[in-house]
Amino acid sequence: MLTEKITAVILAAGQGTRMKSSHPKVLHQILGRPMITYLLDTLINLGIGDILLVVGYQAEKVQEALKDYPVRFVVQEPQLGTGHAVQVAMAAVPEETREVMVLCGDAPLISGDSIQALRQLHKNQEAVVIIQTVVLPDGLHYGRVVRDEAGRVTAVLQSKDSKDRPEILAIREINTGVYVFDNPFLREALQKIPKSPVTGEIYLTDLIHIAREQGRVVEALIDPDVDKLLGINSRAELAAATQTVKRQINARHMDGGVTLIDPESTYIEPLVRIGRDTVIYPNVYLQGRTVIGENCLIESTVKIVDSTLEDGVHIKMGCVINQSRIAEGADMGPFAHLRPGADLRQRVHVGNFVEVKKSVLHEGVKAGHLTYLGDADVGPGTNVGAGTITCNYDGVKKHKTTIEEGAFIGSNTALVAPVTIGKGAYVGAGSTITKDVPPDKLGIGRARQVNLERRFIARKKEE
Ligand code: UD1
Ligand code: MG
Repeated sequence: MLTEKITAVILAAGQGTRMKSSHPKVLHQILGRPMITYLLDTLINLGIGDILLVVGYQAEKVQEALKDYPVRFVVQEPQLGTGHAVQVAMAAVPEETREVMVLCGDAPLISGDSIQALRQLHKNQEAVVIIQTVVLPDGLHYGRVVRDEAGRVTAVLQSKDSKDRPEILAIREINTGVYVFDNPFLREALQKIPKSPVTGEIYLTDLIHIAREQGRVVEALIDPDVDKLLGINSRAELAAATQTVKRQINARHMDGGVTLIDPESTYIEPLVRIGRDTVIYPNVYLQGRTVIGENCLIESTVKIVDSTLEDGVHIKMGCVINQSRIAEGADMGPFAHLRPGADLRQRVHVGNFVEVKKSVLHEGVKAGHLTYLGDADVGPGTNVGAGTITCNYDGVKKHKTTIEEGAFIGSNTALVAPVTIGKGAYVGAGSTITKDVPPDKLGIGRARQVNLERRFIARKKEE
């Protein structure tokens, strides 16, 4: 058990210049959530309760976005480098803290296992600094880990500062930006960091060199989990991180018994839940707090946001579903749209080009084609004909349409709300219904057809 008192310091004050954005870097989203929340969740799940977040560039935006998280904010203004960020944070690190773990808000995908491995090493070794590293085919823009002949880490050098040193740039072991420090060492050594002669910044990485000069032990832990440890500094790296998270989430659902026909093109956000034996076709987006039952079939090009599908629901191609509920055995689509508050009860059938908003479709309702149902309560077993429109808006207010059990609405009907169609009533095709239709009556509201003599037309032509 790792019981020592630990404070996690997350660096998130930088501007993120390479993102070329007007938003703070750590709020850029990975599958619908600000990137930094992945890191916060991992720390919180490990029971690391004392979290300091160093903010600076657009600090208020970051604080606002994370106001529900149990973190303490430290404002670094101006931002003079990663070492400076930790200097500023130290004022808020409790004296009794044994380990200070430093992480980067722009490298948020680190796993709980990787964090625990670093802490375990710190516990087992005399080291005052544990640095996490990965080995890449090319060290790119990352800080290079320099080792002596005995293989001991002596320094981390920034690529920006090593442009004229090919032997440094050739190093493939790089610093991920995650460290565990011994608190007393850190407090004292932070005062000794010089400014980089190249960028003028105060680099946290200089502490490795400082520790070695003091004859202290520095350990590096090479972590194989490369994809989750690399920092996100550009849109391309953000896209790569999104792919990493997507694959991890999709693997979890497949392990749980969900069939994804093409996991590469299926985007499922972290909080979504899916039951066994559900089958999901390509190009599907499941977002927010969506819950999907067992044995559902979701065809391609479907987007579902913050909605609940019970068991055995069939969503055909091209549907959009937002803040809605679909009960057992219902089906919809192709090309149907549920807007907030749509509530489809058991075995409802919604067909192509149907839009439903803030309406209950009770058990067994059929609305097969080209229909708009808004602010409506549609009774069980009702048949809603093609082209039915609830005219719910008078230009100022929304009004309700009530259709009682077993009614039959003929095709191409306008139901001008507020209006009630009684139980078992019929509405003739092509009607514009402005008055209630009592139960079991036939309401017709359209011009009566006249059949004229053909002579009349012939004469017209001769004229
Ligand atoms: C840093 C490391 C580099 C490492 C890389 C891993 C240093 C000097 N370099 O480089 O060795 O390989 O991360 O991704 O540490 N930040 C602040 N305040 C500041 C400056 C930065 O809070 O004054 C934050 C940033 O918001 C970011 C993190 O620190 O979350 C890292 O800063 P960044 O500028 O991205 O450093 P890199 O150049 O990536
Ligand atoms: Mg970075």
